[in-house]
Amino acid sequence: MVRLRASKLSDLSIVASWIESASTCRLWCGTRVSYPIDRASLPEAIEFGISDSWTATSSRAVVAFGQLVPKPGGRLHLARLITAPEDRRAGLGRLVTSHLLETARARNPSAISLNVSSENETALHLYKSLGFSAANRPQDEADSPSMYMEFSA
Ligand SMILES: CC(C)(COP(=O)(O)OP(=O)(O)OC[C@H]1O[C@@H](n2cnc3c(N)ncnc32)[C@H](O)[C@@H]1OP(=O)(O)O)[C@@H](O)C(=O)NCCC(=O)NCCS
Repeated sequence: MVRLRASKLSDLSIVASWIESASTCRLWCGTRVSYPIDRASLPEAIEFGISDSWTATSSRAVVAFGQLVPKPGGRLHLARLITAPEDRRAGLGRLVTSHLLETARARNPSAISLNVSSENETALHLYKSLGFSAANRPQDEADSPSMYMEFSA
């Protein structure tokens, strides 16, 4: 049975072990973390201290991860979604993203956003199906080659 819980710092080494190439690293977190991943600086690089981070577990093994990051002006930003490579295409990405989205909506944010590479067809399909669409990047959001999306109910 899959469960969602608040992430522990120790989950991050497992998540880092899923990143097997520089291109996956870029899909996962843009330019924020360089590959190979330095595990000591990873928590700070992914804003672990200021974010709500969620871990999906199955039979106690960590199988997926995602974050909700507070942004200026009351915006909430979904970030760093990833599923263990051997557990993909089983609904875990949708489960974690839906949970992040519902958690964000319950907080009445000014907007709910995310960044995604326009080449990441799987993630794009998932986000569009949950109600995200391309939007103008706000000035307070760091410039990025990724597509900026916002949720509209
Ligand atoms: C993106 C990612 C999190 C999706 O995780 P997942 O657990 O495989 O996702 P799900 O099984 O919930 O599938 C989500 C949707 O994508 C579709 N999908 C999954 N893998 C796919 C693939 N390889 N090609 C096309 N569609 C795919 C599924 O069919 C599903 O859509 P549906 O519910 O309409 O059928 C996963 O591929 C991943 O970890 N990628 C590397 C990191 C990354 O790119 N993160 C995104 C950062 S923006």
